[in-house]
Amino acid sequence: MNVPEFTQRKTVGKKLTVVTAYDALFTRIVEQAGIEAILVGDSLGVVVQGKPNTLSVTMEDMLYHTRLVAQASETALVIGDMPFLSYHTSVGESVRNAGLFLQAGAAAVKLEGGSHVVDRVEAMTRFGIPVMAHIGMTPQSVNQYGGFKVQGQEEEQAEAILADAKALEEAGAFAVVLEAVPVNVAKTITDSLSIPTIGIGAGPHCDGQVLVLYDLLGLFDDFVPKFVKPYAHLKSDALQALKQFKAEVECDKFPSDSESYH
Ligand code: KIV
Repeated sequence: MNVPEFTQRKTVGKKLTVVTAYDALFTRIVEQAGIEAILVGDSLGVVVQGKPNTLSVTMEDMLYHTRLVAQASETALVIGDMPFLSYHTSVGESVRNAGLFLQAGAAAVKLEGGSHVVDRVEAMTRFGIPVMAHIGMTPQSVNQYGGFKVQGQEEEQAEAILADAKALEEAGAFAVVLEAVPVNVAKTITDSLSIPTIGIGAGPHCDGQVLVLYDLLGLFDDFVPKFVKPYAHLKSDALQALKQFKAEVECDKFPSDSESYH
C-alpha cells in the first residue's frame, strides 16, 4: 500500500483499516491480517512505556520504533507519528523531523492539530513528505482539554473542526484521523473531503478506522475507552498461561520428557 493507493480508496468505497504497531513481531502479524496501514503511534508512551499520556515521548523513541516496524514491514503503509514538540517550534524544524521519519523507513508522518499546523503540512507536502492529519480530540493537547474528552459537541466547535479538516486537505494532507468526535460531525467532515477520514471514536461513517493494537487485542482491562472493541482477550490468555507455567514448574510437570534433550 502506498500513499496514493491509500487516498484513492475513498473513491473505491472500500473501508480502510489502520492499527498501531511498535515492533517487528506485531508488524508481521498485522500485515498477515491484510491491514492496509500501520501507525507507529506515540501511543507507545502509554502502552509500551507506561506513562499517563503521550507528552514525554521523544523523537529518539519514535525513530527507534519506526525503524523496527519499517524493517519488518512488507505490505502496509508505515506512518510515523510525530511526537510532542517535534513540529511545534518552527516550520524548518518540523520538516527536518518529519524527514527523519522517512529516513527511518516510514512512508508518511502523522501530526496532530488544525489550522495552526497547516503551514507545517503544506511545507512537508511540498518537500515530498506525505502527511496524515489528526484532529478532534488530539491527545497531545490533553492538558488543554483537562482530560481525554469528546470534541465537537458544541456547534461552534464542530464547525471549527470541519474548517480545520478542509484547511488540512487544502494544505496537502493525504488523510485525516478524526478522534473522539460525534458521529454526525465525522459524517459531515467525511462527506466534505476528497481525502479519507480515519476514525477512532468517530462513528461508522468515516472512510476507515484506526485502533491502538493492544486495545484491539484486549491487552488492557483496567481502562477501556468507550470506542474500543476488544477483538481478543490476550491479557487473560497471557495471565492464564503464565500461571500455568509457574504451577507446572513448581510441581515438576514442566519440562517433561518431550521438552527435554537426550
Ligand atoms: O498514537 C496513536 O496511536 C494515535 C492513534 C490512536 C490515532 O494517534
